[in-house]
Amino acid sequence: MDTTSVWRATAPGPGFAMLQDDLQCDVLVVGGGITGVTTALLLAEQGRKVVLLEAGDIGGGTTGHSTGNLYVTTSQGLSEIASQWGADVAREVVTQRKAAMDFVEVQSRRNPQAAFTRCNLFLWARDAADQDGIEQERQALLEAGCLVRMDDAVPAGLPAPVGRVLVLQDQAQFQPQAYVSDLAQRAVRAGASLHEHSRVVELDLKTRTALTATGSVKAGEIVLATHSPKGVHLVHAEMPVHREYVVAFEAGAQDPGPGIFWWQGEEGLSIRMLGHEGRRYLIVAGPEQTTGTHNAKAALMAVEQLAGKFLQPGQPLYRWSAQNYRSHDGLPYIGRDHSGCFIATGFSTDGLTWGTLAARSIAAQLAGQADPFAERCAPGRFTPVKGARTLVEENVTTLKTLVQDYLTRSQHEHLSSLAAGDSAIVEAEGETFAAYRAPDGELFAVSPVCTHMGCKVRWNSVETSWDCPCHGSRFRPDGTVVEGPAVTPLRRKQVQLG
Ligand code: FES
Repeated sequence: MDTTSVWRATAPGPGFAMLQDDLQCDVLVVGGGITGVTTALLLAEQGRKVVLLEAGDIGGGTTGHSTGNLYVTTSQGLSEIASQWGADVAREVVTQRKAAMDFVEVQSRRNPQAAFTRCNLFLWARDAADQDGIEQERQALLEAGCLVRMDDAVPAGLPAPVGRVLVLQDQAQFQPQAYVSDLAQRAVRAGASLHEHSRVVELDLKTRTALTATGSVKAGEIVLATHSPKGVHLVHAEMPVHREYVVAFEAGAQDPGPGIFWWQGEEGLSIRMLGHEGRRYLIVAGPEQTTGTHNAKAALMAVEQLAGKFLQPGQPLYRWSAQNYRSHDGLPYIGRDHSGCFIATGFSTDGLTWGTLAARSIAAQLAGQADPFAERCAPGRFTPVKGARTLVEENVTTLKTLVQDYLTRSQHEHLSSLAAGDSAIVEAEGETFAAYRAPDGELFAVSPVCTHMGCKVRWNSVETSWDCPCHGSRFRPDGTVVEGPAVTPLRRKQVQLG
């Protein structure tokens, strides 16, 4: 399935050359999403010698597959942060996220393609049972000093609320791919060296050297802006991994106009509009799904069905999905961890704002500036009481996966019965492996054991990838890493049967 997002289809990438050299620099940034590119720009502007390595295209990870919304609250709710951390921390979160949003606005002034627009965020419920949550959110936002009002209705074209509608004023939307492409070009003009299609295949933390297939970078400092840090890091044990499915439709007759529309509840959707070259799109994101344990096609179909039922859009034009990593206590992990590298992760679905904040925080820390919020977000923090429930629930999933992987066998099929476009865990020549037959008939067979920490991968029929349910590593049918903490590809197996 073509999973190009509307952002990537309507904004060109910058097109940087692959690394083909052995470089030395002050700071190596791994990852070319909003976190990495903003970090590279800020450090280059400080006069540092910066190299950025991106495995694919700039913005081709989560940034270019997001919903392009910026807000001071979080998708889990500011009330969650207030209940876990208290009102003071909730206020601090709002202040910091607002500063990040303002930063994006300033950067976007010189780039009309970024289409930065201030708008309101609407939060409502269609089930009476969810209305209490809206009231709790109102309280938390008011206590944090936000501009909030309650309306009786949502804009035209959206499903009617059961109760009053929370309106959080002065939030924002933009075109994330156009934004990050422009920032990347500015980073180069400021002296940074950016390389696309330059996947890090080995990271030697002792010598601070990263190897790609065609070059190497030796650095004084390393920033892992890869969403989930590469390799084995303590934070992996604390972060549940989810995917979110998004569809951009041709807009229907009803157009709610600018705004971030969050319909809360089991069938809840995140909705926004996009105008581009005279065309209107309706962008709809569905509920989160745990990576590696759901039926990807069914999840995508559910978004289309819900949108069709409640929003009456035109044709679906773009379909995509994105992965997110949730921290155990509602705050992201930003800063230097036990590996000595800087990491930035645990953003949940709020990564455009957290990623910008992370880049500014890491640049400030590297410049020796004090950043009190950095202590809050330090990766080494561990607050078992605050995050205990999430951590226990999610670790049960991971443990179950590990146990099932090695004690049971499932869906074994014969290679000869694998049709074009099919995948299966198969047994051949005394070995178990993950097989996929491409539409052109080519057969790919790889080890099903994730190279990160040994869980077994599961098929994702939308993205055509093998996904690991434990910490979210994802692999192409030929075993190469797509994303996640794994560095090493799945072992390729040569098979005789056609
Ligand atoms: Fe950690 Fe697969 S991502 S075991």
